[in-house]
Amino acid sequence: MTQPALDFVIAALEKIRESNGRWPRASRTTLALLQTVPAAVPPGVTAESQKRDKADLLAAVRERVNACTQCAHLACSRTQTVFGVGNPDADLMFIGEAPGADEDQQGEPFVGRAGQLLTKILSAMNFARQDVYIANILKCRPDMPAGSFGNRPPTPAEMQTCRPFLIEQIDIIKPNVLVALGAVAVEGLLGTRGTMRDLRGRWHTYNGIPLMITYHPAYLLRNQAPSEKRKVWEDMLQVMERLERPISERQRNYFL
Ligand code: URA
Repeated sequence: MTQPALDFVIAALEKIRESNGRWPRASRTTLALLQTVPAAVPPGVTAESQKRDKADLLAAVRERVNACTQCAHLACSRTQTVFGVGNPDADLMFIGEAPGADEDQQGEPFVGRAGQLLTKILSAMNFARQDVYIANILKCRPDMPAGSFGNRPPTPAEMQTCRPFLIEQIDIIKPNVLVALGAVAVEGLLGTRGTMRDLRGRWHTYNGIPLMITYHPAYLLRNQAPSEKRKVWEDMLQVMERLERPISERQRNYFL
């Protein structure tokens, strides 16, 4: 709603109050809708200029991340930091845990086996990786003892130290929907621990942004049961609905 239209609505409400002696009543739904009225776009601001501005702001955060040594042990062990990838003006943003070995080597989140599955999920949703934004709670790979394989989860202290960078990314991108992949991502973002059974498949919010919680793709690689894959897909259908994306009959019946 533009400012003149909003002024008109407020003036009309005040007139009703003056003639009735009390404020008009409004349902919770109406109030919630009014609160989501987008701010008027200043003249000269186009979608392209907005995207450029966001890209510049993200680049400045990326520089600080690259130079970060707050977790001295991770700054020593990392090949490079892994900032985030995708559209700076994305409607949809995915949040993972931390880079693994492949991500540490390539400097991009979700490029290993779990990442390939995430890319497949995105493509089933009719998104390319460059349409959305993908970032992790931690920007460094959690270090591993010399000679050992695999990944370890980030510690609460590491997540607390790195979280402000993610918050800046979210504040700049301003996605319409967030997706947290797995319980560690939820703990890093919201600071709350819970079981995925309780958390996934329903809407939460982070700072007013609708947040869907679903299983991490690495969980689906470990547990190949079709029922688990279907749960993730149902969560993604909810995300598509929330973003008002068209959903075909084929997509509704899809199994990952
Ligand atoms: N798992 C994550 O949580 N993030 C990555 O970037 C890769 C694997």
